[in-house]
Amino acid sequence: MKVAVIGGGVIGLALGWRLAQRGVDVVVFERDAAGSGASHAAAGMLAAACEAEPGEAALGGLNRASLALWPAFAAEVEAASGLPVGLRCEGTLLVALNRDDAAKLRHDMAFQHSQGIDLAWLTPAQAREREPYLAPQLAGAVFSPGDIQVDNRAVVAALIEAFRRAGGVLHEQAPVERVAVADGRATGVVVAGAVHAADVVVLAAGAWSGGIDLPIARPPVRPVKGQMLSVQMDPDAPLLRHVVWAPKAYLVPRADGRLIVGATVEERGFDARITAGGLYSLLDGAWRALPGIEELPVIETWVGFRPGSRDDAPILGPSALPGLMFATGHHRNGILLTPVTAEAMATTILDGVTDPRIAAFGIGRFDRLRHAA
Ligand code: FAD
Ligand code: GLY
Repeated sequence: MKVAVIGGGVIGLALGWRLAQRGVDVVVFERDAAGSGASHAAAGMLAAACEAEPGEAALGGLNRASLALWPAFAAEVEAASGLPVGLRCEGTLLVALNRDDAAKLRHDMAFQHSQGIDLAWLTPAQAREREPYLAPQLAGAVFSPGDIQVDNRAVVAALIEAFRRAGGVLHEQAPVERVAVADGRATGVVVAGAVHAADVVVLAAGAWSGGIDLPIARPPVRPVKGQMLSVQMDPDAPLLRHVVWAPKAYLVPRADGRLIVGATVEERGFDARITAGGLYSLLDGAWRALPGIEELPVIETWVGFRPGSRDDAPILGPSALPGLMFATGHHRNGILLTPVTAEAMATTILDGVTDPRIAAFGIGRFDRLRHAA
């Protein structure tokens, strides 16, 4: 079997790797450099608990299923590539800076407990025992041991290497112009005017997935802009060890001393400008939780585009065009969802039957929603 994957982000690369491991002839076509999209921009939080929201039960279940796969997935990618992925398991602190924040955290915690998520309330003193540099006026915190993190840029590098070592072929600077179609089914992709034949084509182009020419309705995926920045801590005496969610920013410490501060959530299409207001809101939100950041040098600012679907859940599995599959729309949790997406999509492609873990995430759900309205 020959599979062509459109998009070399974490989703396309991890799926390509899983297929190549099972003997499939896989080619990933990447418009730019592999991993340069949202997969480079992300914070790498594996936040199945923190991001659990009422009304998203199916997505919450998928997030938790993928989180459970992450430790073994990380070890396997590291062994297959010889490269580290920076998995850190200190857990996450959600901090309240006043009584209103504390009431919201307690309200959210009640919902998260109802989902079986393990969280503990901490007094300000208990929170500062874990993280001594947190703001003195804390009103309390929630500790989420299950919300861990990975270095998403390191994951990209390791997946590229693992994919190649498994026999996969990666074409960079190779934008797919359209999906080739014959006799009512996808037969490959068109790149620089040439057809590359494939038995199965997978659309995994992240926020750009809605822009590729298809003979069927395009998947409803739009870019959701996120601005981010990072400051440099002393790696031997870091200001933070846990991931911290403050009311207006999150902070993600890396082993090399980088502290990532994110992120804005903006509906501005593919506007890649970094704005004063965006940076101000991130720095203000971070400084209120961790005043010591004011001494640290800013080392990077950047913008990324989350692939947001109409209901914020991914679009996974067969499309209305035989031979074309979707693996897109992972929005805020694509790094978290990488292992389950890759495994379930590979099984779906090889067995010809949708893996039950992704059955609720097919493109057909949008038709059902429209008919129900
Ligand atoms: P991408 O990484 O965007 O990859 C798609 C690729 O397709 C790109 O490389 C692009 O160049 C390529 N492409 C586009 N068009 C074509 C074409 N025509 N031909 C060939 N290639 C094409 N998720 C988490 O789990 N945890 C987080 O903490 C987190 N934080 C985030 C913070 C920010 C600011 C952002 C923006 C996202 C964050 N995410 C996070 C979400 C996560 O980054 C995405 O859901 C995930 O990276 C999506 O992966 P992908 O492979 O689908 O998309
Ligand atoms: N999941 C974090 C973000 O999307 O900003």
